[in-house]
Amino acid sequence: MSELGEHLVDAVTALAGRHPGCRTLHAKGTGATGTFVGAPEARDLTRASVFAAGPVEATIRFSNGNGDPDRADALPDGRGMAVKLRGPDGTLDFVALSLPVFFVRTVDAFLEFTAARAPDPATGAPDPERIGLFVAEHPEALPALEASLSARPPAAYTSTAYHGIHALRWLDAQDQARFARYHWLPADGEHVLTDHEAAALGPDYLCERLGERLASGTAQFTLQAQVAGWDDDPTDPTVPWPDDRSLLTLGTLTLETATGDASDTLVFDPTRLVDGVEASDDEILRARAEAYAVSYERRSS
Ligand code: HEM
Repeated sequence: MSELGEHLVDAVTALAGRHPGCRTLHAKGTGATGTFVGAPEARDLTRASVFAAGPVEATIRFSNGNGDPDRADALPDGRGMAVKLRGPDGTLDFVALSLPVFFVRTVDAFLEFTAARAPDPATGAPDPERIGLFVAEHPEALPALEASLSARPPAAYTSTAYHGIHALRWLDAQDQARFARYHWLPADGEHVLTDHEAAALGPDYLCERLGERLASGTAQFTLQAQVAGWDDDPTDPTVPWPDDRSLLTLGTLTLETATGDASDTLVFDPTRLVDGVEASDDEILRARAEAYAVSYERRSS
């Protein structure tokens, strides 16, 4: 296992402690299976056959970002959506967050940020002063912090938008490369609750609502690509791209069957890609792959 991966996983374990058998982050979650159908427009961006193959099998896991598997759904958190598409040329993983941008752009800054957020042993809560000092030195964290502080509890996992955050390098049939960020947009639209409404629904309402929803129908997401402008840095996940960037519809995901936590034995890796989609040199994206492998190893041994 990689030293960097071990180091990152040790660091994030300090946030919510060790919970055997669970993911180090995004410990609480629930799964579904369904199908994905690529849109014709996808071919303008990528030759990846998964977008041209007709319906392909999809496995989905929704999660809360915290490492405590028993934390109530109503509490503030980033929400995750991980998707595996099984196409003719292999499996393509998407691992996205409800935040539009990330807090940091380097591994060193991630480790500093994690240390700043770790609970103070005296109070059991993060020390606002340490977080303040981190932000003073890392103003690039502000857009993600603002998004995270203003987020309200989602009405359902299926009424939240999720963002890939990193730019990927997409190649078309002529080998023309363009950077783009992907977004999963819920067909239901985005809906949130007040803290009081969410707390009244019980600690596991997000998992329960997904089960109820799929027991009586389906839910859909559109996969959208936001193509980088010439001056957007594809290696920096902290900077939001302007709204006027061109948008392409890549396809539609239909969730059909709730699987509860059955998908917990899977690992979703944001660098598991197929011909026609490549990782950018975003340092955080590359580091994630190493951390997820270590977390998977620890939770499955
Ligand atoms: C250096 C930065 C990051 C580190 C160290 C990190 C670490 C982790 C770890 C250790 C896990 C558990 C993996 C497993 O056991 O399978 C995880 C899960 C996850 N992370 Fe990250 N993460 C980082 C950044 C991000 C970013 C930028 C995103 C979104 C774009 C993200 C989205 C997710 C999601 C959705 C999951 C749950 C995946 C699942 O359901 O299996 N993370 N992360």
